[in-house]
Amino acid sequence: MKKFSIVIAGGGSTYTPEIILMLLDNLDRLPLRSIKLYDNDEERQNHVAKACEILIKEKDPTIQYVATTDPEVAYTDVDFVLAHIRVGKLEMRSLDEKIPLKYGVVGQETCGPGGMAYGLRSIPGVLENIEYMEKYSPNAWMLNYSNPASIVAEACRRFKPNSRVINICDMPIGMEHTIARILGFKNRKEMCIRYYGLNHFGWWTSIKDKDGKEYIQDLIAHQLKYGNCLADDDASHYTDSSWFDTAKKVKDIIAIDPTMCPNSYFQYYLFGDDMVAHTDPNYTRADQVVDTREKRVFGECARIEKVGTAKDTTLQIGIHAEFIVDLATALAFNTHERMLLIVPNNGAISNFEKDAMVEIPCIVGKDGYEPLTVGEIPHFQKGLMEQQVNCEKLVVDAYEQHSYLKMLQALTLNKCVPNANVARKILDDFIEANKAYWPELK
Ligand code: NAD
Ligand code: G6P
Ligand code: MN
Repeated sequence: MKKFSIVIAGGGSTYTPEIILMLLDNLDRLPLRSIKLYDNDEERQNHVAKACEILIKEKDPTIQYVATTDPEVAYTDVDFVLAHIRVGKLEMRSLDEKIPLKYGVVGQETCGPGGMAYGLRSIPGVLENIEYMEKYSPNAWMLNYSNPASIVAEACRRFKPNSRVINICDMPIGMEHTIARILGFKNRKEMCIRYYGLNHFGWWTSIKDKDGKEYIQDLIAHQLKYGNCLADDDASHYTDSSWFDTAKKVKDIIAIDPTMCPNSYFQYYLFGDDMVAHTDPNYTRADQVVDTREKRVFGECARIEKVGTAKDTTLQIGIHAEFIVDLATALAFNTHERMLLIVPNNGAISNFEKDAMVEIPCIVGKDGYEPLTVGEIPHFQKGLMEQQVNCEKLVVDAYEQHSYLKMLQALTLNKCVPNANVARKILDDFIEANKAYWPELK
């Protein structure tokens, strides 16, 4: 069987070691000959680089390994690029979240105003990595899950329409694990689902078993009572208390439209006031991530490096990362697996803009993806999606035209922002904070 070569771009990410464990656990379906880490920050990548080398050597010493900051070394002779970069790192995520909060507005690092700021930083970073791939390994595929995924996907559609880039998010998979648990399925893959929306901004409309029995009403009935929690859930089942709160909040979200199952990210757009009331403006999600995931992962990597073995490591396979192996396998072996991807609408949602990047089920094979048809969507969902997608397009306009006005319009249109006065204040603070990253807006 052919063996593949992978580069992980954003190698210094807290997710890298657990993605490597996922890859190493799936060598039977995706055989590998080489794994490379690439980052533009050597110091950060060094937190995980040696531990990753040990993980790989102990599992399969025939796999070549290198951690590098040289794009040519990283991108030469690769089949798949797994891209999860965070331009500005967690320090900038912290400001994306805190600046809006100064004005009583939820930051939210993907679809909220924080995500608009992050988008302007992320676009050039992702484009740069696509260019490296096209220069050094033009036949490779990039599996991109760098956030803010919708804005990055819109930039790919506009500036790199012919590139071999597939934009994907782990959130639907995470939610489907939860849905499977609620409905009593052993595995999410026993479910055949229908879903549509934008990234972090969509709905499940059908959950069927292999015999075609529909479960969506059962799911909605459960969520109206318990949100995404099991009846007897407590915080100990979650990676941290913030995700437990999110699971509970689904109960309020679904009450707005109890006909379909919403992505839990709607808490930020529909209940921004509740989010603000429960957020310490001096200690946001970015701080929690630094104090929990980053400390845990970097701490364990340092321990592995010191003892020289990963035999009894506490690092676990990144279960959310299974979509990466599924997607790479589908491209490599033409499996025609059905997956949720972020792709140009092109009529799939018949009453929605053709050139919007939507998250919908697609069939994936060796030539890429083929989207499935969704049909017409209702007014409430359409209205929310139109507001959001235009806001995201305006961010990409602002990047392309270096336009202050377009960025002001983007923030004014964002559902989390109450009015144009507040939008302008947030924008002016964002400009100050992002001097090292944003184009100069005129
Ligand atoms: P992180 O800050 O821990 O790691 C990101 C790394 O990217 C850093 O080491 C940084 O130096 C590097 N980087 C920044 N710009 C770069 C560039 N131009 N080229 C190469 N490397 C660059 O961030 P994290 O919290 O681990 O998250 C990583 C990314 O993955 C974020 O964009 C996050 O939002 C995203 N993410 C997406 C999903 C999804 O399902 N879509 C899930 C989890 C994380
Ligand atoms: C989910 C989303 C990602 C996002 C992450 C944030 O996995 O799909 O897009 O980056 O949540 O989680 P965090 O723990 O960093 O707040
Ligand atoms: Mn996501």
